[in-house]
Amino acid sequence: MTRGARSDEGAEGARQRASARGAADRVAVPPEPHETEPAESTMRWFPPRSEGANVLGIETSCDETAAAVVGNGTDVLSSVVSSQVDLHARFGGVVPEIASRAHVDLIGPVVADALGEAGVELPELTAVAACHGPGLAGALLVGVSAAKALALVADLPYVGVNHLEAHCYAAWLEEPDLTPPLAVLVASGGHTLVVVMEDHGKYRVVGQTVDDAAGEAFDKVARHLGLGYPGGPLIDALARDGEPDAIAFPRAMPGEPDFSFSGLKTAVVQHIRKHPDGNVADVAASFQAAVVDQLVDKLVRAADEAGASTLVLGGGVAANSRLRARVEEVAAATGRRAFLPPRDLCTDNAAMIAAAAWWRLQADGPTPLDAGVAPSLSL
Ligand code: KG4
Ligand code: ZN
Repeated sequence: MTRGARSDEGAEGARQRASARGAADRVAVPPEPHETEPAESTMRWFPPRSEGANVLGIETSCDETAAAVVGNGTDVLSSVVSSQVDLHARFGGVVPEIASRAHVDLIGPVVADALGEAGVELPELTAVAACHGPGLAGALLVGVSAAKALALVADLPYVGVNHLEAHCYAAWLEEPDLTPPLAVLVASGGHTLVVVMEDHGKYRVVGQTVDDAAGEAFDKVARHLGLGYPGGPLIDALARDGEPDAIAFPRAMPGEPDFSFSGLKTAVVQHIRKHPDGNVADVAASFQAAVVDQLVDKLVRAADEAGASTLVLGGGVAANSRLRARVEEVAAATGRRAFLPPRDLCTDNAAMIAAAAWWRLQADGPTPLDAGVAPSLSL
């Protein structure tokens, strides 16, 4: 099983590895045609928890090209992530056109690798799923088109998956026995929201950002500190040498369910201008503490309101070490359980897409092949 292991390789490397294994051939060979007509019941498509109910998931909503095979919604048989971070770093953020082109180059080898590592042939799959939104339109189109083509060629159901729902499902990959209700914080580069998950597929968005996403705030502040992109991991590392109480940055919207980070970002930028020779680690630590306080407050508020005894994290910012430590602390202090998926399942990956697809398929059946992408999809 490979999780996130492809983060520093280019299209050529992935292509070579895939063809060396002959995995590309596996993707291209069509299966024997089915002799039966498609049944009306969606359950025909999806046997209940049985061995071999393997879903191929594809994720291309932003700057990661990812594919994974997951059994029964919880068992990760393979998870391949090829990050384009190096392509976008010099621009200080993701450039949509560059992302789409890189996805086109990488999608074949990454899918071939995921099937190869899982030891599963395309016709043996139960379904093919792709993230269909929210995300960058051109980038989403690459994954969705690939998934539909594979589904069509192998006569499998296609499932379009909501990226935000998938972040919630990352938790099930490590803890198959999680039981709702859960209070879930999804914090990434494009979204920040707290969701009460009352049951599978049943969500209530309790609060969300009114301006920047938390990850976006990390990325912008990192740029002002001259640290590079993506900013979250860099600030996280730098903050270890700083004092979280050194500078009293604002915590926005206290007592309210929603988040706001743009005032905090402005306060940090003004502080840097006023104190050009100040301690950068203190700025990083104090900024991080302000973001984390806001995230944790709203998560606990939602759990209180919903009577949820489990706190769950998802999205790239959930990899933040202070956030993880604070959520553990607060869960222990309030008699709750904290569930923090490993960092590589918090950041964008395709295993979470396949996991969410497994539940979606049982609830709704396949997604029609003429369904498009939904760049502004909400939960
Ligand atoms: O979920 P994700 O991989 O992609 C999106 O859907 O956006 O999240 C990426 C975001 C970036 O803004 C990145 O700076 C942030 O997650 N991030 C972090 C950390 N690792 C990634 N933020 C804070 N601390 C981290 N350790
Ligand atoms: Zn994400």
